[in-house]
Amino acid sequence: MASTVKRGFGSFHASNVQELLSLPKDEYIPPQLPFTLPPIGDGLVIFGSETKKAFFLLEDECCFLNHGAFGAALKPALEMARTCQLYTERQPLRFYDRELLPFLVHVYRRMATFVNCCPTDLVLVNNATFATNSVLNSFPWTAGDVILTFNITYGAVKKLVQHICSKTGAVNREAKLTFPMAGKEEVLEVLRTHLDAGDITLVIIDHIPSNAPVVLPVAEMVQLCRAKEARVLIDGAHALGSIPLDLQAIDPDYYVSNCHKWFCSPKGAAILYVTPALQHQVRPAVISHGLGSGFSSEFVWTGLHDYSPVLALHTVLDFWETMTPTAIRSYISQLLKDATDFLIKCWNTRLAAPLEMFGSMALVELPENIYSMFTTVDYSAAEMVQNYLYTAFNIEVPIKSLQGKLYVRISAHIHNELSDYEKLGAAVLTYSNRTSSQ
Ligand SMILES: Cc1ncc(COP(=O)(O)O)c(C=O)c1O
Repeated sequence: MASTVKRGFGSFHASNVQELLSLPKDEYIPPQLPFTLPPIGDGLVIFGSETKKAFFLLEDECCFLNHGAFGAALKPALEMARTCQLYTERQPLRFYDRELLPFLVHVYRRMATFVNCCPTDLVLVNNATFATNSVLNSFPWTAGDVILTFNITYGAVKKLVQHICSKTGAVNREAKLTFPMAGKEEVLEVLRTHLDAGDITLVIIDHIPSNAPVVLPVAEMVQLCRAKEARVLIDGAHALGSIPLDLQAIDPDYYVSNCHKWFCSPKGAAILYVTPALQHQVRPAVISHGLGSGFSSEFVWTGLHDYSPVLALHTVLDFWETMTPTAIRSYISQLLKDATDFLIKCWNTRLAAPLEMFGSMALVELPENIYSMFTTVDYSAAEMVQNYLYTAFNIEVPIKSLQGKLYVRISAHIHNELSDYEKLGAAVLTYSNRTSSQ
């Protein structure tokens, strides 16, 4: 039976969060939501333009190939968030003081099942940045500790690491991955070489780096780090919804993923997993009433704000369960294969890594003659091509400058279809023909 103990923190009237999360599955009774969840349908929708129309607000005329940047939320999940906001304001005390925490516990429990971990080891926060700040700001640093990052570590995390180093006397070392990459063994070898120094305190690994979106072999990387007693923080901002995510199988010390990217939740939802032995050391980036009441209680309330994106995860989970992760994943894999095959042929170029290393995004090199327009292949050159595709063709896709080459980073999600990449292929050819005839 669900606990009826009227205590906890931050709320005089809600049951203790830690206790509710710890209840075994067969003893937990989920609270009844005071509104009905929007219907998802029967799951028989055809992925591609039909799904785009039925489940997303994406503009029909925009060729949207940058799901990786800020995601795109599911319509019914936005509807759920809005319903929740309207319900809240009808009687704010009832919602925040009596109902919210048990509602949040229910979402925590469902999310934990989805990513295969224990509900007490997972907290929901606003974004990956908050989660990473929480881990790094509360890490027990001593001067001389070594933080290993990679050249492909997310820019904001690099800055956070510099900030931590300047505050604590820790030292940042950077490992270099080289592109084009032949396979995952190259990644493991680079990591092994750095770990051999024997003095690394924490390794930060981007599960799917933003600028070079290969899926890194994180489970094997965690094992290598364990063997050298280095802790591991995995920044999986792009992972949830993009690739199957099994936290028990990866077994990291800390794992962060956004829900508002590939999982398609409204903006303002992310997960942070911390292995049980280290939870006592991790404080939320924002300290509030829960301090001292246990890991979940410390994170569940970070001050009064809009919790609707997190509660809307109910609808997002309903969507994934109805459509099934397997069907979504198989559509995306096939689409990414077809799209990359098409673009490589169309431009006579290559991928930055073998197709098996990509999940829902891929890096495809731009045609050779594009380079003739630039004296240096850098961020500005990439920006120029990207802006051209946007302004001349309404194609939203990022161009990446990586180790002397220009790549397009394509995203593939259930609202995309092959014709999107055919438009991209033709637009880039128009651009490259224009540049070579100048
Ligand atoms: C690898 C990686 N980490 C962290 C983030 C930050 O995510 P957010 O802005 O939602 O906190 C991003 C965003 O694109 C990312 O790509």
